[in-house]
Amino acid sequence: MFRAPMVLQRLEARRRRRVAVQGAAAAAASNTGRASRNEKARRLKIEIRTRVNGRAMAAAVKPNQTLLEWLRDDLHLKGSVEGCGVGVCGSCTVLVDGRPVSSCLMLATNVEERQVTTIEGLAPGDELDPVQQAFLENQAFQCGYCTPGMIMATKALLNSNPRPTEEEVRDYLSGNICRCGTYKEVLAAVKGLAEKS
Ligand code: FES
Ligand code: FES
Repeated sequence: MFRAPMVLQRLEARRRRRVAVQGAAAAAASNTGRASRNEKARRLKIEIRTRVNGRAMAAAVKPNQTLLEWLRDDLHLKGSVEGCGVGVCGSCTVLVDGRPVSSCLMLATNVEERQVTTIEGLAPGDELDPVQQAFLENQAFQCGYCTPGMIMATKALLNSNPRPTEEEVRDYLSGNICRCGTYKEVLAAVKGLAEKS
C-alpha cells in the first residue's frame, strides 16, 4: 500500500484543521448576522400608545404597517376587511376618534394617542348596536363583505347627524361600495334609525 511521506501527512492534517476553523468562523458570522438582522428589525419598530375598542394599549408597529394590517395581523381583529387596498371601496372603514377612516390608507403609527373603534368594539357585550340591529332587520347585506365598513360609516354619520336626509345619506356613504347592490336596504336601515332618533 502507498504511504505518503510524513511531511505530506502533516501538511494534510494542517489543511484539515484550517478548513475546520474557517467553517466554524463562517457559521459564527452567519449567526451573528442573523441576530443583528433580528435586532435591526426589532429596533425598526415604533412604540405607540393607543386605545382600541376602549382598551388602552402600548404596541410596537412597523413604520410601513397600515392600520388595517396591524388590526388584522397583530390584534387579530378580522372584522375590517380589505377590498381595494387603495382607499376606494370603504370595506376597511374603522372609526378613529369617532371619524370614519380607510384603515388600508392610514399607517398604524398615526393612531398614537387616538381612539380606534372597529366593528368588534361597536356593541357592548352580546347586544347588537342599533345600527347592526337595523341592518339585520332590513336585510341590508347579502355576502356581507362590505357590511362592517358600511356599518362603521353609518355609525359615524348618525353620530354627527342623527337625522340625515336621503341625499345626505347617499352622499356620506358614497365611499362605501357594495358589490351585491344592497344600497336600497342600507338606505331603509338608515332611514329607520333616523326616524327613531
Ligand atoms: S380596502 Fe380600504 S378602501 Fe378599499
Ligand atoms: S353585501 Fe356583498 S358586497 Fe355588500
